[in-house]
Amino acid sequence: MCLKAWIQITMHVHIVMMMSVVPTSNLHIRRGGSASLICVFQEVDKNTTIRWKLAKEGFLTSGTRIYKHINNIEVQKPTQHDWTLIIKKVDNRFAGVYTCETNTGKIISNYTLEIVDGPRINLDKSSDSQETCSEGSTHALYCHFSGVPTPTVRWYRGLKNAVDTGITGEILRLPTVSRYASDTYICEGKNFVNSHNYTIDLQVNFPVEVDVMEEVIKVQVGAVVSLVCAVEGQPIKEGYWRDPQGKTIISGWKFNVTDEKDGDFPVIYITATSQVGALLSTDFGNYTCVGEGYSNSASKVTRLVQ
Ligand SMILES: *[C@@H]1O[C@H](CO)[C@@H](O)[C@H](O)[C@H]1NC(C)=O
Ligand SMILES: *[C@@H]1O[C@H](CO)[C@@H](O)[C@H](O)[C@H]1NC(C)=O
Ligand SMILES: *[C@@H]1O[C@H](CO)[C@@H](O)[C@H](O)[C@H]1NC(C)=O
Ligand SMILES: *[C@@H]1O[C@H](CO)[C@@H](O)[C@H](O)[C@H]1NC(C)=O
Ligand SMILES: *[C@@H]1O[C@H](CO)[C@@H](O)[C@H](O)[C@H]1NC(C)=O
Repeated sequence: MCLKAWIQITMHVHIVMMMSVVPTSNLHIRRGGSASLICVFQEVDKNTTIRWKLAKEGFLTSGTRIYKHINNIEVQKPTQHDWTLIIKKVDNRFAGVYTCETNTGKIISNYTLEIVDGPRINLDKSSDSQETCSEGSTHALYCHFSGVPTPTVRWYRGLKNAVDTGITGEILRLPTVSRYASDTYICEGKNFVNSHNYTIDLQVNFPVEVDVMEEVIKVQVGAVVSLVCAVEGQPIKEGYWRDPQGKTIISGWKFNVTDEKDGDFPVIYITATSQVGALLSTDFGNYTCVGEGYSNSASKVTRLVQ
């Protein structure tokens, strides 16, 4: 007897507790998206009305009557026990705690609606999409994404076949930048809503340097000879060969001048090839390859001897 009564009491307490604890659900809704909040109440009678309340605004609905946000809210009743609150288009005003309750104040369900947003690049707090820095300096790239929840940032390098650098956070530090760091960098902002990429092209500037393929070339009069030099620098204004008299060599009857780039690398190869039979004994001497940048120029000599 005693035991049975005890069980009944504990069961009763249990049921009462279950009814008074209203689980709170967190709803993550994108700005502009729609929300649907469920409220199911079995013990309906004619005297009961079910109302939706937004804590910061008060009652929104009563039964199927709408008090506020009339064009944006409705109560749907898929069954007679349901009072589903529909928010057609969620904006900041709809963030908050919602309760569905009876007119006697009994809480049926409780929701916290949070507005979430995919990452968006914040250009004011991020590096330009075209960045320039000097070789040897310390540089940093910035990507600041707005979004809710706060997006994480991950850095990739390279445009095609981008490599995951494994570096995370809003800042990519480049201590003592080398010329080889010139590249495309991608920062990826990510949260559970979405992910978004922002691309930064980094150009590392360095002074122009010149190197010749051969310092001395021995040839005969009339022979075909190629003077080759590499002008390396970022940026390069121009590169050219000068003859022993100091005149710039251009393509013509004596030489054919071509230049060639090396992929994306900031180097130009300049080749001056003598035309067959054009090289005279007066053409021997120092040929100078000149490279000009915007802050400096450099040169190197190839001696043409008989
Ligand atoms: C509804 O309310 C009326 C008057 O207050 C009462 O007489 C009636 O018994 C109630 N009905 C139910 C089902 O509770
Ligand atoms: C509903 O949930 C919120 C957030 O958890 C809480 O602050 C609030 O007290 C709850 N309201 C009721 C009536 O349970
Ligand atoms: C961002 O770039 C990385 C690296 O190229 C790529 O793996 C990822 O899919 C991109 N994300 C988006 C949203 O484009
Ligand atoms: C110069 O050399 C290029 C490449 O070798 C060739 O296509 C071109 O016809 C040459 N021009 C002259 C004027 O010889
Ligand atoms: C040619 O260049 C070499 C080495 O750069 C230099 O030693 C030499 O004096 C130059 N000759 C003339 C005629 O300028």
